[in-house]
Amino acid sequence: MTAPLTDGFGRDFHYLRLSVEDACNFRCLYCLPDGYKKEHSEPPLSVAEIGRLVTAFAELGFWKIRLTGGEPTVRQDILEIARAVAATPGVRQVSLSTNGYRLAELAEGLKAAGLWGVNVSVDSLQPARFHELTGHDKLGLVWEGIHRALALGLHTKINAVLLKDLNEGEFSDFLRLTKELPLSVRFIELMRTGDNEELFARRHLSAAGLLAALDGEGWSERARREGDGPARVFEKAGHQGSAGLIAPYAKDFCTTCNRLRITSRGGLRLCLFAESDVPLRFLLQHDGQKAELQALVRQSLGKKEVSHYLPDGVIGGTKHLAMMGG
Ligand code: 5AD
Ligand code: SF4
Repeated sequence: MTAPLTDGFGRDFHYLRLSVEDACNFRCLYCLPDGYKKEHSEPPLSVAEIGRLVTAFAELGFWKIRLTGGEPTVRQDILEIARAVAATPGVRQVSLSTNGYRLAELAEGLKAAGLWGVNVSVDSLQPARFHELTGHDKLGLVWEGIHRALALGLHTKINAVLLKDLNEGEFSDFLRLTKELPLSVRFIELMRTGDNEELFARRHLSAAGLLAALDGEGWSERARREGDGPARVFEKAGHQGSAGLIAPYAKDFCTTCNRLRITSRGGLRLCLFAESDVPLRFLLQHDGQKAELQALVRQSLGKKEVSHYLPDGVIGGTKHLAMMGG
């Protein structure tokens, strides 16, 4: 194995977020409010290309892989992808981020493919509001998927984006879920992207209210563990699950960055908010290109910045997170 990847700021990278599809069937208010519009004539990475990519990264020390979208389960070959990634030597943990609309149907196959966990977006626990936020009246179906995933022993998280006046009153309901279910609930502060300026101005909610609710309900922050990413994790006695907070506008958020991202067309993104990506697809065409690919990744990491500079108003080239799955 080659030396692990580190950058000039002492961060070490072992976590790859791999978008396998930029299309999505949902229309989340802050992401694709008008629905997905095709932006590529080029198809997403094939299973063979994904296999080569993951093999090369695993040799660089990446052992944790998340499959993201868009919506990854829009791909009919998602189980084949999951199998190929999970079977790659060096890969120890594969998870999937999904809006959950096919989870009930796919959970068993994903587990059999070697999946470790799933993250499901659930921005509201109220069916009507869920419908309003996503454009789909599918909360019941999504919950069926979550229960199936839990029953199969998949590590299951739900992600809720904090939205002023929308799910703001639901913190306690989300937290209550973790009592009886071994679920992690992750609250995510809304991020400004190229396309959501107006929505961001109206709906951005700082994490302060949530932190107060956690404190008031007896939750305490868990000490950071080695390998933890930018999320802060909270626990409460008597609860099987945990609560987490991802606050990208917090000072020092980027110091714990441990991840790189790949777009569905094989572009390396050094940061969610980078202006552009480094094309890698031309080095995924046959097995003989691995060393060159690894050298390019190593060299590119030298250009990763110390921060996303979001609080300074930097938005970067990201129009919406469906481009690369958050
Ligand atoms: N801000 C915060 N989270 C977002 N997501 C998508 N767009 C944004 C945004 N602008 C979330 C989704 C999903 C995860 C992959 O990213 O809700 O939970
Ligand atoms: Fe689709 Fe996820 Fe964007 Fe919602 S946030 S529209 S589920 S890609």
